[in-house]
Amino acid sequence: MRLANCHNIDDFRRLAQRRLPWPVFDYIDGAADDELTKGRNTAAYADADLVPDVLAGVATIDPSCTIMGRRSALPLLLSPTALQRVFHWQGERAVARAAEKFGLWCGISSLATVSIEEIGALISSPKLFQLYVHKDAGLNRSMIERCQAAKFDAIALTVDTIVSGKRERCARSGFTSPPRFTPASALSYAVKPRWALDYVLREKFRLPNLDTHVDAGTGEAVSIAGYFNTMLDPSMNWQTAEAIRSQWGGTFCLKGVMSAADARRAVDIGADAIMVSNHGGRQLDGSRAPFDQLREIVDAVGGEIEIICDGGVRRGTHVLKALCAGATAASGGRLYLYALAAAGQAGVERALAILQDEIERGMKLMGVTRPEQLTAERLRWR
Ligand code: FNR
Ligand code: LAC
Repeated sequence: MRLANCHNIDDFRRLAQRRLPWPVFDYIDGAADDELTKGRNTAAYADADLVPDVLAGVATIDPSCTIMGRRSALPLLLSPTALQRVFHWQGERAVARAAEKFGLWCGISSLATVSIEEIGALISSPKLFQLYVHKDAGLNRSMIERCQAAKFDAIALTVDTIVSGKRERCARSGFTSPPRFTPASALSYAVKPRWALDYVLREKFRLPNLDTHVDAGTGEAVSIAGYFNTMLDPSMNWQTAEAIRSQWGGTFCLKGVMSAADARRAVDIGADAIMVSNHGGRQLDGSRAPFDQLREIVDAVGGEIEIICDGGVRRGTHVLKALCAGATAASGGRLYLYALAAAGQAGVERALAILQDEIERGMKLMGVTRPEQLTAERLRWR
């Protein structure tokens, strides 16, 4: 299967599965427990139908919008995801360049494999840093100060990882950061020679936003569950979030809000945006899908804070449905990660082109020329 044969996000998933050692593919594709929430995140979009207008004069449309104060070419953000150079040697550099080419927000994880400084210098398009609050307060301060110096446009504080989700695929494979070549897993890496050669021969793996303060994840191999449960601050609360917002001083987003009450609290502490998210189903299995939960959140705080519907997005029409349900925009991780793993920057660019084409086609068939015309009366819930 080649890149030219990828016509949707699921095609990229299949190509990624061919290209990656199975422990790495399972880290991307996997989720928590029975992976019910991951499945529902996408399936939820099939339980609502779009109602198009016709003869609306849609020869020229403009899918752009403003998200967290920055112009975005589409109502879609690339969510922050960890360890990208494990998926493809170009890693976050490829994703950032593709995001800039398509005029989209790019999220960079605390556990990114390329530094805040490098991404800050690499692209001029909107960039968001995703902060994990560590037990090491000095590290938290360091990351915020580095984002200020590198002129990041927003910080997203992830709030749904107070403990790690039960990642059973990773428990079985022994996946760690950095990947460990144990006798059990060595074969899985050896049978993917292109991946293995890239990993071994190219730039040494590290977590440059963290290894200034901690060795775990860079010098000391650790599972993501192990990293969460030993390195992150389990006492984090609303006061922590408010203090971080104040220290950062810039555009501030809470990533992982699911309840209307928490959305209200996010408004109360002065957050500019929330990502309604269950971490792609990787945390609390059995939690509701963001698209299912969206109406409750919009009823509670719509118009007071920007609402990004995160997770399960695999089609342009999913983005359109999220906007009809009241979201400012939609976001996703696997929608570009499979493509990164499959073919690096060329893969991500093709995936974004496909999503752009699906969004634009969907808008025209819906009879709208602008995202703000995608309102509730254009959606019917089954
Ligand atoms: C993630 N996600 C994530 N979120 C976060 O706040 N910090 C992180 O470092 C990561 N890392 C990460 C790695 C991988 C491999 C995946 C798949 C996801 C969650 C991510 O930001 C987003 O919430 C989900 O990916 C959304 O679900 P979809 O779009 O992947 O279905
Ligand atoms: C994950 C963490 C890194 O979901 O957010 O793997």
